This record gives sequence, structure tokens and C-alpha cells, in this order.
Amino acid sequence: MHIAVVNGPNLNLLGVREPALYGTATLADIEAAVRERARQLGVQIGWLQSNHEGALVEAVQALRGRADGMLINAAAYTHTSIAVRDAVLVAGVPFVEVHLTNIWGREEERRKSLLVDLAVGIVAGFGMDSYLLGLEGLVKHLRARPAQPSGSVEV
Ligand code: DQA
Repeated sequence: MHIAVVNGPNLNLLGVREPALYGTATLADIEAAVRERARQLGVQIGWLQSNHEGALVEAVQALRGRADGMLINAAAYTHTSIAVRDAVLVAGVPFVEVHLTNIWGREEERRKSLLVDLAVGIVAGFGMDSYLLGLEGLVKHLRARPAQPSGSVEV
């Protein structure tokens, strides 16, 4: 089982970026923890971070037919990007949305997600653990599904 983990803008600066809000763990720390949990769960991880909307769109598009599942923290693009939403729709990959912070406890403009209605589920507010909880939930969900014939997604 292959799970793609997609990270949006400014997450490359975790650890120095508003640590009171986002914690002191770096994105590399989160990646290491996710890879370790994936190893325990027996799944493979692909890891991506980009600050560029178009790069995220292309990366998500490329998961179509290639990944079994996706964890996505689209960061600020969660709240603004119809392009990322459209890429998620065309990719057709079951996904869990994750956020370090509880976006509904924050400023008004962060209280909506353009992805959440498409998601299997969402985990927000647990810092780095949001990724680990999201991965566990996603893998459990995928394993509970009947086998999917490959190449069955229609354009
Ligand atoms: C975030 C929340 C977003 O509102 C913000 O723009 C981020 C990080 C989070 O993980 O809590 O960059 O997605």
C-alpha cells in the first residue's frame, strides 16, 4: 500500500515558524515520525512539500492511479485553492486532511476548508500527532474497503 503525504506552503519552516502555534518539531521530524509509523503499519510513504500551488497541483494529479491513499496538509491553500481541490478531485485518491492546529479555533478565514467535503476524514489540532492519527485512520479505512480493481477510475 502506497500513501502519499503532501505538504503545502510554509510547512518547510516548521520549527522556526510561530512555534507557540505550530510547535518546535521540524517538517523533517514529522516526516521521520510518519515514516516510522508507516513502517509499523506495513505501508510505503511518498513525501512532498512545496510552497508553489502549481507544483502541488501537478504532484496531486500525478497520484492518479499510482497511490492508494493520501495525507494532505495543504496549509494556507486549504482555505483558498480551487486548483488544489480540482487536482484532488481528478486524482481520485482517498485522502485524510490533516492540520497541526485546530483550524476552526482560529481566524475566520482559516475556518473553512475547500477539501474537507471530499475527504475520508480530517484530523486537526494535535500538532505532529495529527499526521500519525491521520495515517492510522487512513490505512484502517483503506484496509477495510473491498479490493479496488486497478485502473478503474474514470476521467
Ligand atoms: C495549517 C493551518 C493553516 O491555516 C496554515 O495556513 C498553515 C498550517 C496547520 O497545519 O495547522 O500553514 O494547515
